Amino acid sequence: MKQLSLEIEHRSKSRIIASSGFFQVELMEHVGEDDYPQLIKISEHLAKDYGEKAVLSKTTIHKYFNKPTSLPFIARFHGEIIGFIIGVAIEDLSSEPWARLDENFGKHNTLYSYAFVIMDKYKGNGYAKILKRVFLSWAKKRDGIRFITGHVKLGVSSKFTGDIKIFNRVDNWQGTGMTFEYYCRDLGPKPDFTQTQNPPLAKTI
Ligand SMILES: CC(C)(COP(=O)(O)OP(=O)(O)OC[C@H]1O[C@@H](n2cnc3c(N)ncnc32)[C@H](O)[C@@H]1OP(=O)(O)O)[C@@H](O)C(=O)NCCC(=O)NCCS
Repeated sequence: MKQLSLEIEHRSKSRIIASSGFFQVELMEHVGEDDYPQLIKISEHLAKDYGEKAVLSKTTIHKYFNKPTSLPFIARFHGEIIGFIIGVAIEDLSSEPWARLDENFGKHNTLYSYAFVIMDKYKGNGYAKILKRVFLSWAKKRDGIRFITGHVKLGVSSKFTGDIKIFNRVDNWQGTGMTFEYYCRDLGPKPDFTQTQNPPLAKTI
């Protein structure tokens, strides 16, 4: 059997899904080692609210980004990765007791928002919104996927648009001392592509 290190290609492979000036959103088909340091650096922004467990490592990048069942997008500005969002099949989180308790666990219809982050200096100018919009629209197009779930701080999901339900609340989530809510977004039924042509792969916003 090949060693894990031999399987990891250095260069990332991605497809540009949306672009606007120097900003673009890319679907990651493979994350190469060259991009690991930047992804790890960005994920350090998660530690404050989500604890050290949320910080990516080589192993978690390989496990969650480079998995056919995952849906990972990065945001790039002037050539530099500035943020990302990863949807992970809930079944791939079977080691987490809360995941196994999800009523849709085992139905292969749910992506968990494993991480959604934008570097501090790029926050609040719409990049996160575009990243999230692309993620949701691709999740909706993915075969079998109907729901997006995630843990957010208490009250955050009430600001989301769309069909959102709160499944439960968790005190001291991941040892952060804060109460989080586990929300579920219903993406609704699949669009009927027999009536219209598929949207173009890359779109200028
Ligand atoms: C979450 C984050 C990416 C949002 O970026 P931002 O530039 O501050 O963007 P905005 O406040 O304009 O929000 C952009 C969109 O993200 C949504 N959003 C904000 N926090 C969110 C969260 N925790 N989970 C999912 N979506 C979230 C907003 O509702 C908004 O969606 P809308 O298009 O429905 O209005 C950014 O604040 C960040 O990196 N935070 C630190 C990491 C973090 O807490 N991530 C969340 C869970 S892993």
